[in-house]
Amino acid sequence: MSDSSTAITMPPPPSPDGMPAIRTEGLGRSFGSVHALNGFDVSLPAGEVCALVGPNGSGKTTLLLILAGLLGPDRGTASLGGINPTDHPFEVHRIVGWMPDFFGTYDDLTSFEYLELFGAAYKLPVNQRAPRARELLHLVGLEPLASSPVHTLSRGQKQRLGFARSIVHSPTILLLDEPASGLDPRARIELRDLVRRQKRDGVTVVISSHILTELEEMSDIVAFVDRGTCRGVYPLAELPSTSTMGRRYRLRALGSVEPALGALGCTWERVSDERAVVEIATEEAAADLVAQLVARSVRVVEMTPIGGGLEDAFLAMDQGGRS
Ligand SMILES: Nc1ncnc2c1ncn2[C@@H]1O[C@H](COP(=O)(O)OP(=O)(O)O)[C@@H](O)[C@H]1O
Ligand SMILES: [Mg+2]
Repeated sequence: MSDSSTAITMPPPPSPDGMPAIRTEGLGRSFGSVHALNGFDVSLPAGEVCALVGPNGSGKTTLLLILAGLLGPDRGTASLGGINPTDHPFEVHRIVGWMPDFFGTYDDLTSFEYLELFGAAYKLPVNQRAPRARELLHLVGLEPLASSPVHTLSRGQKQRLGFARSIVHSPTILLLDEPASGLDPRARIELRDLVRRQKRDGVTVVISSHILTELEEMSDIVAFVDRGTCRGVYPLAELPSTSTMGRRYRLRALGSVEPALGALGCTWERVSDERAVVEIATEEAAADLVAQLVARSVRVVEMTPIGGGLEDAFLAMDQGGRS
């Protein structure tokens, strides 16, 4: 156990061997009678992209604010790379990048000036601020807009500028609050590429969303948040859905689907004469079922998976997870 580097071809994690990048124990934070965090326990490994998924109001932003050293907890502790953000906020600010769900625009500044300003705020040496701003504009594909006032940028471009701002000081832990919300599919792919690139550089990324499928492509693990608590952390490849439930497909045909489905002996529910929801474990089985239906002269026009892996997992957890 003295050297674990042989099995994993990843950049060295930013925290010492075996120590999670982020850990919280019994974290609590209330606003009046609202318990935004209510005993939040989580441990997130270094060098991974973790999706923080939960409904609106479940406590994601409150958690991220505490981790970023911008809000104090009422109870419990947090640590990032071994540093407690409540006791040592300035040290945490040095290693943590923070992208809020909404960021002030400083409308009169150009994109370049905006990043220079944050370089100054993060105390980069004066002679490094302009080169770093240029490097970041290149990284996020905003070089052509370096001289454009921030207020003229599109939502996707503003998000990329906000992302650039959050990594101006080359943090080892990056906290992104709902960065994909309101982005069109192309802008989301650009964001995914930026996030994956941070991971390749060895950065630990935590990225929140209330839309489950939004983060599926960019994350390695998922922490489910529900009413101020963490309901479990799963590697994306091992979500409970893959082992505990088959996938559900929406089937529609021109003409009745019932006789054929009945004869084939699969698990299905009737929606209407021409529609059914079928439970199928794998894509191969779904393709085989379509072939068998067609062989029985069923004119299939739709066979669509319902929800994504994350949605299935969250729903499964919601039904089974409460004691
Ligand atoms: N500054 C605040 N003042 C009062 N209530 C707050 C404040 N911040 C958050 N809350 C409440 O705490 C709960 C959790 O909020 P939040 O952490 O923003 O959740 P999420 O980011 O998951 O939507 C919500 O009920 C919210 O209204
Ligand atoms: Mg929020």
